[in-house]
Amino acid sequence: MRRKLAAGNWKMNGTTAALEELDALQEVAEGAAEVLICPPSTLIAQAAVRSGKVAIGGQDCHSAASGAHTGDISALMLRDAGATHVILGHSERRADHGESDALVAYKALAAWDAGLTAIVCVGETLEQRESGKTLDVIGKQLAGSLPDDVTASNTVIAYEPVWAIGTGKVPTTDQIAEVHTFMRATLVQRFGNETATGIRLLYGGSVKATNATEIFAVVDVDGALVGGASLKASDFAPIVTALN
Ligand code: G3P
Repeated sequence: MRRKLAAGNWKMNGTTAALEELDALQEVAEGAAEVLICPPSTLIAQAAVRSGKVAIGGQDCHSAASGAHTGDISALMLRDAGATHVILGHSERRADHGESDALVAYKALAAWDAGLTAIVCVGETLEQRESGKTLDVIGKQLAGSLPDDVTASNTVIAYEPVWAIGTGKVPTTDQIAEVHTFMRATLVQRFGNETATGIRLLYGGSVKATNATEIFAVVDVDGALVGGASLKASDFAPIVTALN
């Protein structure tokens, strides 16, 4: 049985005052679904101290454990600061920092070595969808971004169509189902039935309280990776409730 996961990605938003949102999530985090907030790295240590029932994650890590990488953060540092998860291969990092599937896979290995659960993101652009390449793109990203030692506990996959992120545009439930069913089948083929059926598959892209229930009813959707609507507990809590 896969435990539902409501994950919030604060992206490059939030200073110390934003940590109050964690206090406001405590009640809803008592429910069946796991609740995770990934604040900017400057807030992780403080967030972990007051996170209570909310898990804390990073938004990226370096593929190396330490060394001469100015401005970067290692998975071990995230773990040391109190994180339990890390988002990897988000489309904003793939676009802004040129991250390849291979680099994402190396980062996943680093995350696992540090004891973190990797949330590996995949998703097609609008152009790729309109030219009928969605499943090819997702298949290639999964093949290249996931190392061989994936388990149901060390990895979560997030399907985030690039065109749905921060736009208010959401795929139809049939479109989400098509991709999630495809991802599950792809994982079964590579990692076997037992591992693959335990891996949680999140949907991300303009998830809000008003569309969460419909999205969570889609086959093989085990939760959400939420951006804008995770910044305020008053927006995020109803999304968690829809999963509980
Ligand atoms: O990682 C979550 C994200 O990319 C989705 O953002 O603002 O569309 O919920 P948003």
